[in-house]
Amino acid sequence: MNSQNPPKHIAIIMDGNGRWAKKQGLKRTAGHEEGAKVVRNITIHCAKLGVKYLTLYAFSTENWSRPKLEVEYLMRLLEKYLKNELDTFLQNGIRFKAIGDLSKFSKSLQNTIKEIEEKTANNLGLTQVLALNYGSKDEILRAIKKLNEKNLEVTEKNFEACLDTAGFSEVDLLIRTSGEVRLSNYLLWQNAYAEMFFTNTLWPDFTTNELDNIIEDFNKRQRRFGGV
Ligand code: FPP
Repeated sequence: MNSQNPPKHIAIIMDGNGRWAKKQGLKRTAGHEEGAKVVRNITIHCAKLGVKYLTLYAFSTENWSRPKLEVEYLMRLLEKYLKNELDTFLQNGIRFKAIGDLSKFSKSLQNTIKEIEEKTANNLGLTQVLALNYGSKDEILRAIKKLNEKNLEVTEKNFEACLDTAGFSEVDLLIRTSGEVRLSNYLLWQNAYAEMFFTNTLWPDFTTNELDNIIEDFNKRQRRFGGV
């Protein structure tokens, strides 16, 4: 296990569940089910490594356009996952937070999210952040509205305090699985100086071992933040 110098904030675009399922001759939903297991393994691993924030793209503002049955399945899976994970969160000192416009979800899912956030609020280890009905453009517009409502001066600090990620550090390492090389409206502000890694591995096949290798590569990169 590569425990030296873990990045403080890792963000992941978990892509390829559907293709994984198709390859196995299964329904797309089976890919999401398998993907949820990987979420669990990677989260526990990051907590053990000492990563402070793990932000996972679980449902985008654009994902509502998927077939109704798939959207419904994802909603049920999210709720089941959150309820099942509470013990794991508590045992591993993991705090749970959600970002995104949660108002579009059912009351039941909103309540579950709130309950898990509250029950894990005092955990000091990893913060697992799930991006739910999240889109960076939507987040930025909501932040601008908040700035206006509060009549705050437009500064980086004030703006960041109005983002859903207020209080989190910026992303150090961004990973996208499945071979696609794009950001897909994910954390556009927070990724300003992130190191990016794109792997062909489909999310359900992503392992803690591959994450360790990516972190090893990340630690070899020189981050200059615009300097020399
Ligand atoms: C992308 O695969 C994945 C998603 C849109 C949702 C991510 C969801 C999970 C990893 C499982 C549920 C998560 C939790 C936290 C319980 P895709 O469906 O776009 O795959 P494809 O591009 O191969 O079709």
